[in-house]
Amino acid sequence: MAEASAKRGSQAERPLSPHLQIYSMTISMAMSIVHRITGAALYVGTLLVVWLLAAAASGPEQFDFVTGLLGTWPGQIVLFGYTWALLHHALGGIRYFIWDTGRGYTIPMIDRLCWITLALSAAGTILIWGYVLLSWGGAAS
Ligand code: HEM
Repeated sequence: MAEASAKRGSQAERPLSPHLQIYSMTISMAMSIVHRITGAALYVGTLLVVWLLAAAASGPEQFDFVTGLLGTWPGQIVLFGYTWALLHHALGGIRYFIWDTGRGYTIPMIDRLCWITLALSAAGTILIWGYVLLSWGGAAS
């Protein structure tokens, strides 16, 4: 009994690895989490693309139905999110590929690559949607 509690005591004195709440969030931690979330979101986005292609192959009524749904404002919010998730995940993937070559492992460079990914994905999404919305405006007039 005394032996068992002595053992528990010695276990308690061992150094423990810091738990989650010890860390303050860094940009690279946040981007790692977001990379996984966007990867999961892309599964849903891919299903939407398949749905659109299947509708296009099925006939004009089905195609109009799907594009009509995706053209509503909730549909456009989903497509906007999908655009950002795709760009963010693809650029994040390129960041991982750079790290896979063994480059970019200093802390300032890790942070810089993360911010570049974030900035380019945001800029790319705005550019794509700016172009889409402007061309819709042009088509309507
Ligand atoms: C529809 C397309 C895609 C889907 C559904 C998808 C899905 C995912 C998911 C779910 C993960 C997370 C795995 C995990 O954390 O365990 C992941 C990781 C990854 N993805 Fe994608 N992905 C797609 C496109 C891409 C593209 C275009 C690239 C590169 C340009 C890419 C590069 C990567 C890389 C490098 C990882 C691993 C990151 C790591 O080491 O933690 N993915 N992907």
